[in-house]
Amino acid sequence: MRKPIIAGNWKMNGSRSDIKTLLDGIKAGMGDVNAAEVAVCAPYIYIPDVAEQLNGTAIGFGGQNLSTEAKGAFTGEISASMLLDFSCKYVIVGHSERRTLYGEDDTLVAKKYAVAHAAGLVPILCIGETLEEREGGVTEEVCARQLKAVIDEVGIGKVGDGVIAYEPVWAIGTGKTATPQQAQDVHAFIRGMLAEHDQGVADKVRIQYGGSMNAGNAKELLAMADIDGGLIGGASLKAEDFLAICTAAG
Ligand code: PGA
Repeated sequence: MRKPIIAGNWKMNGSRSDIKTLLDGIKAGMGDVNAAEVAVCAPYIYIPDVAEQLNGTAIGFGGQNLSTEAKGAFTGEISASMLLDFSCKYVIVGHSERRTLYGEDDTLVAKKYAVAHAAGLVPILCIGETLEEREGGVTEEVCARQLKAVIDEVGIGKVGDGVIAYEPVWAIGTGKTATPQQAQDVHAFIRGMLAEHDQGVADKVRIQYGGSMNAGNAKELLAMADIDGGLIGGASLKAEDFLAICTAAG
């Protein structure tokens, strides 16, 4: 049995006081969450606050991006060792907003995965198609290409140590969710592709769904055989909504 993992992706939202309120609310409701692994991915500058507030809890935390470089003259960048310095466990790599707004291509994302993994972070690798790609019938091709870049870079074994988030770009922040069956079909495709390389990895890797998952639709999505959690944007900013999703995961 794969342990479901629900991760909040706060993106560029919040303030010190918002985050305190949010985490107080999440901590207070964690008693109802039985089976899920829970994490939040915060803007870099708030990570020390998050680390302090989550100290001694079962809630993990991480960054939303990292540099491929270890240190040096890379203005504005944050390295894996800096994330680890503040006890981050996770880091999101290849989020579609990074890919589309900041030009991160498959090669760069694969390098980021490799650097995060080598440092001992758990990478949450985001893959997924745009609306145009879905309508063009190339959803599987796009997901396969994005995943293959990482498998080629690090090898299937190391993909087994991370988490994959299938996030159809057309569902992110739009209020349009993939139907449970649409999501399941792609998740099964992704797991099938992993299985072609290594059945053990395919069996163990958690594949999250992301894209307008919320308190109302989480249960149905999470009930699908190959959906092992969620990467939650908007609904992770309200304790009540986020907790409802975590509870729906078990
Ligand atoms: P959303 O974002 O839940 O707001 O659609 C998900 C994500 O981008 O990870």
